[in-house]
Amino acid sequence: MLQDWLMSSQYTVVFTGAGMSTESGLPDFRSSNNGLWRKNNSSQIASTKALNENVKEFTAFYRERVLGVKEFGPHKGHYILAKWEQQGIIRSIITQNVDGFHQEAGSTRVAELHGTLQKLHCQKCGREYSSENYVNKDYYCECGGVLRPNIVLFGEVLPQDAFQLAMEETEKADLFIVLGSSLTVTPANQFPLIAKGSGAKLVIVNMEPTPYDKFADQVIHDKKIGEILTELDQKIQ
Ligand code: NAD
Ligand code: APR
Repeated sequence: MLQDWLMSSQYTVVFTGAGMSTESGLPDFRSSNNGLWRKNNSSQIASTKALNENVKEFTAFYRERVLGVKEFGPHKGHYILAKWEQQGIIRSIITQNVDGFHQEAGSTRVAELHGTLQKLHCQKCGREYSSENYVNKDYYCECGGVLRPNIVLFGEVLPQDAFQLAMEETEKADLFIVLGSSLTVTPANQFPLIAKGSGAKLVIVNMEPTPYDKFADQVIHDKKIGEILTELDQKIQ
């Protein structure tokens, strides 16, 4: 199954969600135990409404996430995916994650559908800043505007360049592997279906069931992503 398809496929694309980074120490969003949206109301925090009406809560929430990204880093699974790109085993990664861990591990062809926490910009004048400003609780631009992370908030449109790259890669894929996503957020969750519709084999690796398991050629629920990628790597090298 997945091991054979990895070796026989001509164009493998990997699609990752927050479950790819939990083994690095970052919480995901909807896990039954400690998902971020189990404890916080996402529309009250991760939205432009929160940014405009509740700056204190918004900046405190996203400062915590910036601190997490600086404290932790890629795990063995991220490094394996970067190695597989160098070896031509996979062609690209489409990620919903904003932690930058794929690039930090060495992956170069990464479509960040939801942007990145690594950079901030002024909500008023657009000037870009480093996320260090959030570490130092420096939340305002010289123009007086509020600084926000370069991520996509609920209700916002996704960055067109990332969306376009993701669409191109998805349509070329003959093997599409989902790692650690509940596949519950649009339009990101459409890519596995588009891949399937374009004739790709679809494999879903996720701790919990997803709404698209029924369309997959293989579903793996029983292990953590880091272990699965390690076992696969040992078999195909
Ligand atoms: P949503 O259910 O409203 O989906 C976004 C909508 O915008 C879709 O209906 C889609 O039609 C449209 N859309 C956005 N970009 C598009 C594009 N490039 N091309 C075509 N259609 C596009 O999603 P949401 O729950 O409002 O959240 C919006 C986005 O923000 C989601 O992708 C979500 O994952 C993301 N988000 C990110 C964070 C974060 O911390 N990074 C937090 C919350 C939400
Ligand atoms: N191994 C396998 N699966 C895991 C692991 C792991 N180590 N850790 C978590 N998971 C699974 C969880 O069971 C969960 O179903 O990963 C999935 C993560 O799903 P979500 O928390 O919903 O995260 P994601 O799918 O990335 O959310 C999409 O929603 O709020 C927005 O922008 C945010 O990008 C995010 C988007």
